[in-house]
Amino acid sequence: MKSPAIKVTVKKDKSYYWCSCGLSKSQPFCDGSHKDYEKGRKPIHYMSPQDKFMSFCTCKKTEHAPICDGNHGHIDR
Ligand code: FES
Repeated sequence: MKSPAIKVTVKKDKSYYWCSCGLSKSQPFCDGSHKDYEKGRKPIHYMSPQDKFMSFCTCKKTEHAPICDGNHGHIDR
């Protein structure tokens, strides 16, 4: 199965807000859509200790948010 993760180059000490609800049109990051449709859901803050290339989860089934852990391979679609 092809990974649905989105690969992003993150910058050291920059804040990123990963969408945990799946409604954002700016995946993998929050665009504020959770406020209208998913009461109680919030983005998850991420800050990298270094510049690096990483895979952000888009299926929202990761157990290591916001990083893709391969759980998408266990989802029935
Ligand atoms: S739009 Fe999904 S957490 Fe904000």
